[in-house]
Amino acid sequence: QARRLFDYNIVLIGFMGVGKTTVSGCLSRLFALDVVEMDQVIAEREAMSIPDIFAACGEEYFRDLETALLVELQSRKHTVISCGGGAALRERNVAEMKKNGKVVLLTATPQTIYQRVKDSEDRPLLKGRKNVEAIARLMEERREKYEAAADILICTDEKSVLQVCEELIQQL
Ligand code: S3P
Repeated sequence: QARRLFDYNIVLIGFMGVGKTTVSGCLSRLFALDVVEMDQVIAEREAMSIPDIFAACGEEYFRDLETALLVELQSRKHTVISCGGGAALRERNVAEMKKNGKVVLLTATPQTIYQRVKDSEDRPLLKGRKNVEAIARLMEERREKYEAAADILICTDEKSVLQVCEELIQQL
């Protein structure tokens, strides 16, 4: 029944490590929603990891795949779309996100992000700059675009996943 509340898709955006994947999983369990992890779908279809796609074909090619997938997903509903951290940087992507449903921006401080990503190998854009200062700089560069894309903004620092989901649902 709760599923009927979601006659559209929820689009999660935000920097690497803000918790898009974790929050998607929780929303999915709570409300029986489908989840589309964009990075995972793209990697599967290309039969390449995200770092390999970046290295072999470049960032623009990857962003084109994101755009195409966002258009494709508009034919669904009851779905949480977990975007890659850079998906909202393209204007065209944001337009396609809006056609999917509500765009939710998750945020966290650079310190929190650092703790969450420091052991991850699959983030090509953080290669060689995995420290709080570099993360803070990249986040600041992106902040305006993230905020412009969002219908709803939720800070995830010092909150449990469940708390984040509750806040999100209240704001929908
Ligand atoms: C990117 C974030 C990554 C992935 C790619 C590019 C970015 O996704 O899409 O490495 O530009 O911020 P996550 O946010 O899931 O790490």
